[in-house]
Amino acid sequence: MGQFYIKGGIPLEGELRVQGAKNAVLPILAATILNQGESVIHNVPDLKDVKTMIKILESIGCSIKKEENTLIVNSSAIHTNEIPEYLVREMRSSIILLGAILAKHKQAKFSYPGGCDIGHRPIDLHLKSFRELGAEVMESHGYIYCKSNNLKGTHIQLDYPSVGATENIMLAASLTEGITIIRNAAKEPEIQELQNFLNKMGCKIKGAGSNTIIIEGVKKLNNVEFTIMSDRIVAGTFAVAAAITGGQIVLKDCYIEHISSVISKLIEAGCNVYSIEDKIVINSSKKIKAVETIRTLPYPGFPTDMQAQMMALMTVAKGTSIFTETIFENRYKHVSQLIRMGANINIDGRIAVVKGVNKLFGAKVTATDLRGGAALVLAGLSAEGETIVDNIYHVDRGYENFEENLQSLGASIIRKE
Ligand code: EPU
Repeated sequence: MGQFYIKGGIPLEGELRVQGAKNAVLPILAATILNQGESVIHNVPDLKDVKTMIKILESIGCSIKKEENTLIVNSSAIHTNEIPEYLVREMRSSIILLGAILAKHKQAKFSYPGGCDIGHRPIDLHLKSFRELGAEVMESHGYIYCKSNNLKGTHIQLDYPSVGATENIMLAASLTEGITIIRNAAKEPEIQELQNFLNKMGCKIKGAGSNTIIIEGVKKLNNVEFTIMSDRIVAGTFAVAAAITGGQIVLKDCYIEHISSVISKLIEAGCNVYSIEDKIVINSSKKIKAVETIRTLPYPGFPTDMQAQMMALMTVAKGTSIFTETIFENRYKHVSQLIRMGANINIDGRIAVVKGVNKLFGAKVTATDLRGGAALVLAGLSAEGETIVDNIYHVDRGYENFEENLQSLGASIIRKE
C-alpha cells in the first residue's frame, strides 16, 4: 500500500508549479464523450483518479493517447453505455459520466456508487434532476437504469448546490433540446472550468460561477483543445505546508482568488501571504496563532477539501480553534491519527475543538482518505522525529509527485513501497 517516511522540522523553501486540477479534469474527461470526436486536454495531472477515469472511458470504447501531461481522447467509437462495476467502485465520482452518457446515448446502466471514505454520499440530487429533464430513472438491486428518449430543457432548482449534480446537469443538458436553467447551482471554479470546456466544444452555457446557470441545448459538438487550470486544493495544501514548517515558498501558476478563504485564514494565523501576477508567496516566519473558527462551506466559503490540512496546522498553533464540518458527515478520520502524534483534539459530531500544543511528535499513522492523508504528511513535516504515513495510495488519488515536490522545497520525505 506504500508508506511515506518523513523527518520533520525542516522549514520549506523554494518555488513550485502547481499541478492541474483533479476536480476540473474529471468532469471534463466525462464531457469528452459528448463530441464523438477528438478532445486534446493539456495540463492533466498524473493521478490515480485520472487513471481510473481513463480506464472507464476506454472500457466504453474511447481511445486515449497520453503524451506527458496531455491526453488525446477520441470518443467516436463508443460501443456501450454500461460502465464496469469494479471501476465505478474504484472512483465514486464516476457518477459524473451518467449525464454525458445519457445525453449522448439515450440510456445508461450504472452500479450505485454507494458511500466512500468520507461518508455516505447520496446521488438523489443527480437522479432527481435527470427525472426533471425527462429521463426515466429506475433504481433496482444496486443498479441505476436511465432512459432518455425525450429529454427537454427545463428549470431545475437544486435543494443544495452540489458540485457533482450541477456538473451532471450541465453535461446532460448540453445536447438536450431547449433551455435548461439550474438555480442554486454550485459556484466552484471547477464548474466554470467545465463551462469553458463545453463552450469551446460548441455548447451554449452561461452563468457558471454564479448560482444560476443557463444551458441552451445544441445538436452537435466539435473537436476541442483545452488546458486545465491549476488545482486550488493542491495550492492550499502546499501553502499550509509552508506555514506549518515555518517556511517561505512561492507557488507558481495559480489563482489567489480561488483560495482566498484559505489565504485569509493563513493571514489570521500570522502568515504573510500575497500574490504577484500568477504567483502566491507564503511566508510563515512567526509562531502560528489559532484561528478561532473554521466552518466548511460551499465555494466561496472555506473548502471541506482543506479542512484536514488546516487542522494539522492548528494542532501546533497558539490557542484554541473550532472546526465545523458542514459538507461531509465523516471527514474527521484524520483526527485519531493526529492525536497519535500528540495533538489535542476533541470531536463532538460535526465540531472539532483543537487546542494547540507546542509541537507534534513523529509516529506511525495511517491515511484514511485523500485530504486526511495529506494532512498527516503536513503534520509529519512539522513533527519532531520520524513519522511514517501508511496507506498513501489515498494521497496518490489527488497529489501528483507529492514527495518529489516536497523534496524540491527541502523536505525530508521518501516513499517506500
Ligand atoms: N449530496 C447529496 N445528494 C446528492 C449530491 C450531494 O446529499 O445528490 C451531498 C453530499 O453527500 C455531500 C454534499 O452534498 O454531503 C456535497 O456534495 P457535492 O455533490 O457538492 O460533492 P461532490 O461532487 O460529490 C466534489 C469534489 C469533492 C469535494 C466536494 C465539495 C469532485 C470529483 N469531488 O464532490 O472533492 O469535497 O465536491 O466541494 O469534484 C476531494 O477532492 O478530496 C473531494 C472529496
